[in-house]
Amino acid sequence: MQKILIVEDAQINRELLREILQDEYMVEMAEDGEEALEKLRQCETQMAAVLLDLQMPRMDGFCVIEEMGKNGWIGKIPVLVISGEYTVEAENRCFEMGVSDFIHKPFVDSIVRKRVRNAIELFACKNQLEQRVEEQEQTLREQYRIIQAQEEKLREEKPFNRLMMEYRAAIMEVETRLKVLNGEFSQEYNRNPFESIKSRLKSPASIYEKLGRKGFPETVESIRDNLTDVAGIRVICSFPDDIYRLAHLLTRQDDILLIREKDYIKEPKPNGYRSLHLIVDVPIFLSNEKKYMKAEVQFRTIAMDFWASLEHKLKYKKNVNNTDEIEIQLKACADSIGALDYQMQEIRNKIDSSRGT
Ligand code: GTP
Ligand code: MG
Repeated sequence: MQKILIVEDAQINRELLREILQDEYMVEMAEDGEEALEKLRQCETQMAAVLLDLQMPRMDGFCVIEEMGKNGWIGKIPVLVISGEYTVEAENRCFEMGVSDFIHKPFVDSIVRKRVRNAIELFACKNQLEQRVEEQEQTLREQYRIIQAQEEKLREEKPFNRLMMEYRAAIMEVETRLKVLNGEFSQEYNRNPFESIKSRLKSPASIYEKLGRKGFPETVESIRDNLTDVAGIRVICSFPDDIYRLAHLLTRQDDILLIREKDYIKEPKPNGYRSLHLIVDVPIFLSNEKKYMKAEVQFRTIAMDFWASLEHKLKYKKNVNNTDEIEIQLKACADSIGALDYQMQEIRNKIDSSRGT
């Protein structure tokens, strides 16, 4: 049962109205405006309608309507004024203040019930509609927020994706130049200076991890300025002298700039790691510009690559015991591999010279 509030100072009217409405509603009663507001404050959300007299002691009906308006209740709870002999001006004022209807004296049971029911139903519909509109607005706001976030992400992603495209172009450029050299050698001297090339573009996660670790800003410009290994090319050769020959032929090309060289073959790392690392600036040709991109080119023999792959795998294995012993063994293997590479190279040289090539 819904609650309604009858606000009326004349007891006889209160009782009459209660009599008419109590079968359909839980009827609350107040003798003046102050008591009415008190009751509304207590159960504002449950009140289905207010039947309000205008002339009352302490606080009159107009004041009640005004206070209800201030609290935002007028739009939510229908107010029906119990009319005495009011002027047209007074009735007009009531409607302007948001009153829903009038119940005229003398009270006719069926008409009072209908007017109250109509007002309540109308407000229920209105409130429902308002709630639905509010929900839809909420959904729209949320969708708008998502779209804005996606737009923002796309704006950020575009320069990043472009930079990755440029690094891919740099990889292709270096690969092509090396393959051209390989082709020439295979044609002219019947041998291949490298066995294979493995290239990789550093993953976004790995890029941002490295920027973070080294304290660089996480921006596209910062990637370009601070990282040299986004484009990575690994060249696997058969013999150590192929490594130096290829590296020399590559960096001799007049538009490739050698930025840095680390020769871990002449000076292996303490763990035994051997490779020749070059950081180069390589030109890429885009639709309306020529741009230099940094790339890291690692040269290794097959044996060194086998060792490095294995060592890398072992290094990232967790919960490995006897690490000291493993490191010593790995170092010994690296040294043997280094020596072996040169022995194989000597053998090849002997074969070549005995063939007269
Ligand atoms: P990063 O910050 O790791 O790039 O090192 P860096 O800037 O000091 O350059 P460095 O030339 O020493 O190493 C570049 C890359 O060579 C590494 O990212 C690895 O791919 C490889 N590398 C270097 N040292 C080792 C090593 O001890 N073991 C293995 N397996 N790979 C290595
Ligand atoms: Mg690196």
